[in-house]
Amino acid sequence: MDTVSELIKNLADQHGRSRYNLLPILQGVVEQEKYLSESSMIEIAKELEIPASDVYGTATFYSFLEYKKMGKYIIRVCKTITCSMKGKNQVLLAIEDMLKIKVGETTLDGTFSLLQTNCLGFCHKAPAMLINNDVFTDLTPEKVREVLSQYLSKKQEGGQNGN
Ligand code: FES
Repeated sequence: MDTVSELIKNLADQHGRSRYNLLPILQGVVEQEKYLSESSMIEIAKELEIPASDVYGTATFYSFLEYKKMGKYIIRVCKTITCSMKGKNQVLLAIEDMLKIKVGETTLDGTFSLLQTNCLGFCHKAPAMLINNDVFTDLTPEKVREVLSQYLSKKQEGGQNGN
């Protein structure tokens, strides 16, 4: 059995095998694999004995369940109203300009993916974004460039250590 099949079996053992347990299983796969491949979705459907279309429908409904291969760091910029009014577009442009990708794309080296998301619950500190599970608030183009530079130097250090 490959590691994804094993992971799905373990998650089904842990959460249960009914369609009500679908979401935590999908989240578990994304946490480990960073995205839901077509074969993972088919495997989950088999394990839970539900139609693959149900798994696909749920996966595409939630914006936090990626079904495309994503970069090591997933940037999610809030696109909801408060962040939009407080300069989200300038922040997004600064990211696109620095990483040379558009929303929905991944850098060629697979380090960053750029997405937009709905309200992150930090409207009082808008604009806000997530990089994986870390929250960044009160963003400006300058601040976002600083944050990304830190991630880029982390990546370079990781590369030097062979990670
Ligand atoms: S509107 Fe962006 S965090 Fe709420």
